[in-house]
Amino acid sequence: MKYIELPTYTLNIVRAAKSMSMKEKPAPHPGKGQVRIRIRYAPCNPSDISFIQGRYGFQKPLPATPGFEGMGTVIETGEGTESLDGKRVSCFSQYESGGTWSEEFITSASNCIPLKDDMPDEQASCFAINPFTAYALFHRVKNRHQAVILNAAGGQVSRLFAALACEAGIEIIKIVRKTEVDTGSGDEQRHVINQHDADFLPRLKALASSLNATIALDAVGGSMTGDMLNNMPAGSQVIVYGGLSGKPLGNIHILEIVFGNKTITGFDLNQWIGSLAKDEFHDISQKLQEMFIRKKLTTKIQGIYPLGNFEKGLFRYIKNMSAGKILFSPVIDPGVRTGPPPQV
Ligand SMILES: NC(=O)c1ccc[n+]([C@@H]2O[C@H](COP(=O)([O-])OP(=O)(O)OC[C@H]3O[C@@H](n4cnc5c(N)ncnc54)[C@H](OP(=O)(O)O)[C@@H]3O)[C@@H](O)[C@H]2O)c1
Repeated sequence: MKYIELPTYTLNIVRAAKSMSMKEKPAPHPGKGQVRIRIRYAPCNPSDISFIQGRYGFQKPLPATPGFEGMGTVIETGEGTESLDGKRVSCFSQYESGGTWSEEFITSASNCIPLKDDMPDEQASCFAINPFTAYALFHRVKNRHQAVILNAAGGQVSRLFAALACEAGIEIIKIVRKTEVDTGSGDEQRHVINQHDADFLPRLKALASSLNATIALDAVGGSMTGDMLNNMPAGSQVIVYGGLSGKPLGNIHILEIVFGNKTITGFDLNQWIGSLAKDEFHDISQKLQEMFIRKKLTTKIQGIYPLGNFEKGLFRYIKNMSAGKILFSPVIDPGVRTGPPPQV
């Protein structure tokens, strides 16, 4: 099978990408509780970039294959996983030695989400992580807060969250770093502000106060966390779920925490999944897939690249993340099922 090999972790992403290459080796067989998946599409996410840079929450032994999620068909089952044989699945990896930027991927059956027949392949490849994150964050906000602040508002978690929140009538203050960014649902009624504008902080404060935005979802970290927290009403909360700035949380005024009774907490999808009751994840997956099938939720995809062209795809994504995900495909097929985005 062909796969992408990362020989070493390198902070400079351009150098890291140039060090990576497509290799070939015999496909491994699944062990007990595992399946072998023939990958059709696998996206590039911010977590993949952090992983390649060696900045993710953990490192795998090198050489490693990147790719934390994807979709494909189960072509071999290990002991106890026979019910998944031949099934189309979304899949994700955590500590497995392999990754999804590969023709084939071995993972635990519990890391597979069986797909409904009408769930489009491209959307399914980005299904295992972001939609569940957006759903979980939405349920932290729903019925508790009138208005929410989102940064990285052109990102896919934010857009999915906004689609859910918009329907629930929650006001959204969207922070972007480029004016032309499309942030999805309901922009006409929502409040989009640019973090680079000179009046960013006073505008943020005025909006947070007038809309009573008492929660912020933070994908950026760095000084942005303090910028938001310091300008929110007393009693507000920031949930940090990403670290796109690559910097520690900063600029947090102590008096806001002490006298403003403001809090900062984190969110981790794996811990949230671990907290669900039996069958709850399955029920949520069914509900979310229905929303994708009915196009109430969509992950924006800007292009599909053959796996061997990963470097081109990676650079295009890094240059404009808000334009949507890049998918890598070991089997680019002109007959893509759903009004396909450009294949490059
Ligand atoms: N905690 C969890 O369990 C969990 C689960 C899923 C995702 N996440 C995290 O959620 C974050 C968003 O993921 P995603 O898939 O939605 O991302 P995405 O779709 O790839 O989009 C990233 C967005 O962030 C913006 N951005 C990038 N770097 C930035 C910076 N330094 N300052 C401000 N904005 C920046 C991009 O804007 P440009 O267009 O200007 O580049 C783009 O709008 C990531 O950090 C990811 O790791 C966490």
